[in-house]
Amino acid sequence: MARKIIIDTDPGQDDAVAILLALASPELEVLGLTAVAGNVPLPLTARNARQICELAGRSDIRVFAGCDRPMKRELRTAEHVHGKTGLNGYDLPDPQTPLQDTHAVDFLIDTLRAEPPGSITLCPIGPLTNIGTALRRAPDIAGRIAEIVLMGGAYFQVGNVTPAAEFNIYVDPEAAEIVFKSGIKLTVMPLDVTHKALTSRARIEAFRDLGTAVGAAVAGWTDFFERFDIGKYGSEGAPLHDPTVIAYLLRPEIFAGRFVNVEIETLSDLTRGMTVADWWGVTDRAANATFMSDIDAESYFALLTERLARL
Ligand code: BDR
Ligand code: CA
Repeated sequence: MARKIIIDTDPGQDDAVAILLALASPELEVLGLTAVAGNVPLPLTARNARQICELAGRSDIRVFAGCDRPMKRELRTAEHVHGKTGLNGYDLPDPQTPLQDTHAVDFLIDTLRAEPPGSITLCPIGPLTNIGTALRRAPDIAGRIAEIVLMGGAYFQVGNVTPAAEFNIYVDPEAAEIVFKSGIKLTVMPLDVTHKALTSRARIEAFRDLGTAVGAAVAGWTDFFERFDIGKYGSEGAPLHDPTVIAYLLRPEIFAGRFVNVEIETLSDLTRGMTVADWWGVTDRAANATFMSDIDAESYFALLTERLARL
């Protein structure tokens, strides 16, 4: 039986590839996409999510708009990385599918209450505002979530949006704190993982060589945002962050990490949104997250190419 997932997302080119990977994978049943403000404001993430589903020929996937700003902070966006629309690099037609009327937070709560406990995995790949708000409003859902597998945080890589913090956690640290303190089974794909799986010319051309609209879109998007990371890090390519979450559901054996304590810094202006991971076990704080550190990059890109070819 396919594993039921909800993808909480702020597309974003790498979010788009994550969504496409999920839609291409029969092991997963996508119950819906919940859009959140992040890389770009909510009206754009909610629009982009529908465009991506339509690109995959899956206008049946329901898209719910969620929170338009973090729980306690001003929204910080990332057009400098993702472009004005969030999906710069390959233009998609206007979406034909309407947004769902229900707010994403209500959809999350209602669905988790309606489905059998332990049957739904949440896959957040943006700021954690929708999930944090749902847990705050309906604490009973915590015990009904099978697992949360998220992209966010960093330990050895420390930060990308500030010297100390990764974007998704930085944008809404209060929401992240709720998630990390929830007691829900948590698996984290931090920058430490994603920076070990960089794009390369050959990997991007493999997408383009699929000869499909999906292949052209993914190649166009990765080409676009690559320029930012290459300029910043002087690396050969760019990390493709968010699809690691979906790849983990499909091929957990290509990842390695440790079950450790991870706390979120919410008080300091200097290190706001830092994921303080007790990697070396120097405290007696209880472990609460499987914090990944390694990925077999060849297998990851092979999986992406093989799956995207199915769309
Ligand atoms: C994360 O931030 C966003 O810009 C990406 O989509 C990814 O989810 C990486 O820090
Ligand atoms: Ca994202």
